Amino acid sequence: MNDRTAPDQLAAPFGDDYGPLLTGVHAPLAEEYELRDLRVIRGSVPTNLSGVYLRAGPNARYAPNGRYHPFDGDGMIHAAHFDNGQLTYRNRWVQTDGLAEELAEGRATHHGIRETLKGRSDRRLKDTANTDMVGHRGRALALWYMSGDAYEIDPVTLQTLGKSRAIRHSGGKISAHAKVDEITEEMMFFDYGDEAPYMHYGVVGADGQLRHHVAIDLPGPRLPHDMAVTEHYSILHDLPLFHDHEAKALGRHKIDFHPELKSRFGVIGRYGAADSIRWFDFSPCYLYHVVNAWEDGDSLVMVGCRYMPALDAQGHIDARRTAKDVAELVMRARLWEWRMNLRTGEATERMLNDKHNAEFPTCNGRMTGRKTRYGYLVDHSDTTTLQWSGVRKYDLFSGQDLGGWSDDQQHSWYSEPWFAEADAPRGEDDGFVVAFQWNEALKRQTLDIFDAHDLSQGPVAQVELPHRVPTGFHACWIERDRLARST
Ligand SMILES: [Fe+2]
Repeated sequence: MNDRTAPDQLAAPFGDDYGPLLTGVHAPLAEEYELRDLRVIRGSVPTNLSGVYLRAGPNARYAPNGRYHPFDGDGMIHAAHFDNGQLTYRNRWVQTDGLAEELAEGRATHHGIRETLKGRSDRRLKDTANTDMVGHRGRALALWYMSGDAYEIDPVTLQTLGKSRAIRHSGGKISAHAKVDEITEEMMFFDYGDEAPYMHYGVVGADGQLRHHVAIDLPGPRLPHDMAVTEHYSILHDLPLFHDHEAKALGRHKIDFHPELKSRFGVIGRYGAADSIRWFDFSPCYLYHVVNAWEDGDSLVMVGCRYMPALDAQGHIDARRTAKDVAELVMRARLWEWRMNLRTGEATERMLNDKHNAEFPTCNGRMTGRKTRYGYLVDHSDTTTLQWSGVRKYDLFSGQDLGGWSDDQQHSWYSEPWFAEADAPRGEDDGFVVAFQWNEALKRQTLDIFDAHDLSQGPVAQVELPHRVPTGFHACWIERDRLARST
């Protein structure tokens, strides 16, 4: 199984008819693998690393009906399981209801997001579970950015076990970017949609039961993508970028950015009543991803990747281009800090680092909702959509660049990295940073493992895989002790 990739595995399984996002580095895999005894081409796999790195992404099983967007592909998980110095790679599709239906039919029976807003009821969108991975109660949850079911996955075998009963019990759905407090093992989540009240917020307890679920009234349908938690609060997002309602009613897909509106972050106690939410106003922006948030005296601090609005020749916000760029995943993001004072109501914000286009942020997951000094992000290419050309560590207090690495800024495609703590860690950054890397120049796929203290030294281990891992979205790390906390 460890021979170099056969040429046909590099080819687009549906041919070149569906555009660049189903070919080349984005072409889906046609097979599921379980691989051991992989070739280590640099350094050695750390023996003090135990757990699993899981990365979700789109991997279309069948040729699409019409135009394809990267958000449409069936969810596939790629996993690197570290166990007593042994490394096992696996990849498997998430067995969603939609995929099961298509497997039975032998063809795509759904349509993608570019084809569904046509006012035609026969064009159904599929909950692909392709966006995010979250570790909770010994299982991995595969989540979808448009709000759907939480598919429960065995984090080692990647078998789909079923759908979260707690989320179904809520009567609502769950978006990508639910947050797990790994100290209490509670999971905070939200959903959003087109019907009033447009958002819900909830908590699943360490026992797997739905413990809290409230409606959050928004001014209208919105497109929030992430949330944040601290030890006692959750922070929900209302951003001035959303569907044009008139166009949508006519069946057209159009997103508008409203620079005349504010970005609003709503602070609610972890088990707070719906009417207790407090909104803080900030400058208008779009925001995909939060690095982490924490409590600091009377204030909540949230650090994230603020999408920088496009500017016209006069230096004013170009709302149209900003909306278009967001829709087409053209990202220009900067590390940013928002501060909300719960005593005075004051809201302040500042750019932490003006140099790097930084996205797909991660931190030490054990400290989600607690004060973390370090973040690990990708360098986002300014020119190539979805290309993350390097990995970089930041000081989240000062925004200082603490060093990054890329094998080849032009040809490397890294996946979202995650911090993986060492066995018996002695500090926040005592561990490793794990990411997949496709090198387009060498046509070489590797799993790269960095010493989290200093990414600029390059990977301490680089393990070759015999096939390409297609570009994807979010990842997580589940430590050995949390893997064992099975339900
Ligand atoms: Fe995301």
